[in-house]
Amino acid sequence: MISQFLDSALDLSVIGGYSRIGFALRSRSWPPPEETPLAGRVVAISGASSGIGRAAARICLQQGARVLLLVRDPQRGERVRAELTGIGPAELISCDLSSLESVRACAREIAERHAALDVLVNNAGVLADRRELSADGIELSFATNVLGPFLLTAALVPALRASTAGRIINVSSGGMYTQGIHADDLQFEHGSYSGAVAYARAKRAQVVLTELWARRLQGVAVHAMHPGWVDTPGIEHSLPRFQRALRPLLRTPAQGADTIVWLSSAPDLPSGRFWQDRRQRPTHLLPGTREHPGERERLWAECARLSGASL
Ligand SMILES: NC(=O)c1ccc[n+]([C@@H]2O[C@H](COP(=O)([O-])OP(=O)(O)OC[C@H]3O[C@@H](n4cnc5c(N)ncnc54)[C@H](OP(=O)(O)O)[C@@H]3O)[C@@H](O)[C@H]2O)c1
Repeated sequence: MISQFLDSALDLSVIGGYSRIGFALRSRSWPPPEETPLAGRVVAISGASSGIGRAAARICLQQGARVLLLVRDPQRGERVRAELTGIGPAELISCDLSSLESVRACAREIAERHAALDVLVNNAGVLADRRELSADGIELSFATNVLGPFLLTAALVPALRASTAGRIINVSSGGMYTQGIHADDLQFEHGSYSGAVAYARAKRAQVVLTELWARRLQGVAVHAMHPGWVDTPGIEHSLPRFQRALRPLLRTPAQGADTIVWLSSAPDLPSGRFWQDRRQRPTHLLPGTREHPGERERLWAECARLSGASL
């Protein structure tokens, strides 16, 4: 393992830690994986039709898992399922995270098909370019990145508890370091809307909810992680200039998925923490991003109220 000093220096430089340079330096000392550490496990991955989710699905299959591909677009999902056929068992399940009804139906289908769920990866995400509302009338970034995954998680708790080593992995972003949760304006109704700011607040909310879920769930581990900067269709669409300028330094989707897959099988990790490149990371780097306990509880209460989740 590289020293804590070098590892932290990479992160402080941002470009070093988030790019493929950080991945190359850190991964040099990782032990080779057991051949099939996920054999016999059922792993559900949202946003499995593209980018990091698709790469995570492939690696989980290679490591022996049965993978549930949660996708909103059946045609794109079918293409990915076909491409993964031959590696291992992959099932397609429809799930639009921005629609509460679709999320409930997805959770019902998972529970009907499987007595236990070992890993839930809340990977699907969106960076909206303007303020839009979901079919339920909720600001799209909050609906997709926070509320849908919150409801999916709540609805799947019984299936995760039925596993001997249930775990939830929330895919956040390093962008969350720049924002607090803004519990009084979760849907960005005030001030001039910025998609990047809405995204960063939502990704911060995922990390806070990870900590809150971890306190409430015994026997199911909850992790948040960030993948670094990864060359995916999502980044090409949302941040085209960034993608073009930094392309040679961006990680591959498989590199971005590495810590997701590692968290899926690593034994005895503490719950409620934030990870990147197989190491725990701080949750705050800048002044002014910390929330008060009351704001945390308000975030939880609002997610519960808006989603109607039974908790
Ligand atoms: N790429 C990076 O550098 C980076 C950095 C930090 C964090 N992340 C996070 O990593 C995760 C994956 O991102 P990516 O870069 O792989 O992006 P991507 O290529 O755009 O993949 C995003 C996935 O989310 C799905 N999705 C979007 N809205 C959805 C909805 N309403 N319901 C269900 N699925 C939905 C997309 O489905 P469709 O195929 O139907 O569009 C797609 O499968 C996201 O949470 C993102 O915030 C990425």
